[in-house]
Amino acid sequence: MSEVIKIEGQHKLNGSIKVSGSKNTTVALIPAAVLSTREKVTIYGVPYIDDVDSLIELLEELNCEVTQQDDTLIIDPINMKNVPLVSKAVNKLRASYYFMGALLGKYKEVQMMMPGGCYLGPRPIDLHLKGFEALGATVKFENGNYIIKAEQLIGNKIYLDVSSVGATINIMLAAVYATGKTTIENAAKEPEIIDVANMLTRMGAQIRGAGTSVITIEGVETLNGVQHEIIPDRIVAGTYLIMAAAIAEDVLIENIIPHHLEALISKLEEMGVKMEVGVDTIRVKEHNGLEAVDIQTQPYPGFATDLQQPLTTLLTQAQGQSLVKETIYAERFKHVQELHRMGASIQLATAQATINGPTELSGNLVTATDLRCGAALIVAGLIAKGTTTVDNIYHIDRGYDRIDEKLRDLGAVIYRVPKDS
Ligand code: EPU
Repeated sequence: MSEVIKIEGQHKLNGSIKVSGSKNTTVALIPAAVLSTREKVTIYGVPYIDDVDSLIELLEELNCEVTQQDDTLIIDPINMKNVPLVSKAVNKLRASYYFMGALLGKYKEVQMMMPGGCYLGPRPIDLHLKGFEALGATVKFENGNYIIKAEQLIGNKIYLDVSSVGATINIMLAAVYATGKTTIENAAKEPEIIDVANMLTRMGAQIRGAGTSVITIEGVETLNGVQHEIIPDRIVAGTYLIMAAAIAEDVLIENIIPHHLEALISKLEEMGVKMEVGVDTIRVKEHNGLEAVDIQTQPYPGFATDLQQPLTTLLTQAQGQSLVKETIYAERFKHVQELHRMGASIQLATAQATINGPTELSGNLVTATDLRCGAALIVAGLIAKGTTTVDNIYHIDRGYDRIDEKLRDLGAVIYRVPKDS
């Protein structure tokens, strides 16, 4: 039976909340684990989210042995088989595409259907495919499936027209076993890429430059197992920061790398949010009113597109006019129509939103159209007068580890109920 989340708004948040391991790293580390040729890979800090369940289904289809205990995942790929990945699990998330790079790298051949994920406007994978071709693979798309094969993968220089996170990681995965040196130019610099490169390096891969715009990979012949702890999720951390900024009395956010959130932290400071930034914590206290700010989404270290949606909700509470420009996904504004239903004053134009505040938000029935839209609506529900009901919460469960339980621990009145009850 499907469920909705109900939130009774305007309850102040107090206490501490711990950020889980990064979703966008985990979803790459799991496919990366199959590159091990002789030992198990143990990943610590795995978030409890539906995207992980979908990837475990795919590992099992590939005949990997998987053991999951609390937040530890052990993947044994020793007896794996390179079967076509064509089940529904592929379609449940975008990141299933990391199996393309990993299986191509290991077996020089992969067959899988088109990956799914949040609809944020067009999300092409041409750069991933261009990268595989540059390494010597041929790519065919037949009956809804990609068939990517290579006699041999040979290192090459690959320039990415757009610094894509997915293409950078996928090419890295395909190149670890290629003969010779691969150079990715205009590579994405997100912290998730560094974490994936760190795990692969500790498995024996030779990768230099992750976190800069030029990454080099010298192919190797085998990779070992490893034990790896995932970095904290900067987008989940940012979401909790925004929630605390909205309605905290005194909230401590733990397991956070503040350096990964510099763009958000400086915008929140500009808005008048009171924060004490520690080594791996941020404490947020009640504010005396918020000021409007302008933001423009950018690749890391710029303002993250994934935080644009929850921040838009917060900006409805700020005094004055804020301008939000989206440079990564022009259509990532589905949350706005839902916020309108709660009383927000937001004007949309191509790839940008103008928010006038402050406006009082009122509880209503709203729909999570994608993962971060869901987060934006929870922020709205925490602030709003009355009860907000969020539908289609499966989007939220793809990326936020038990968000309702964690917010309840802070004093929010938020609960799941069966739909139509
Ligand atoms: N792009 C292309 N061609 C490609 C690949 C990307 O034109 O082959 C374009 C995209 O259309 C977009 C830009 O490049 O305009 C950046 O896309 P990128 O490839 O970096 O995005 P992604 O790897 O598909 C990851 C995150 C997203 C996050 C983006 C941007 C994962 C699994 N997903 O997506 O996270 O928004 O980077 O930072 O890592 C989310 O967590 O809610 C989410 C959507």
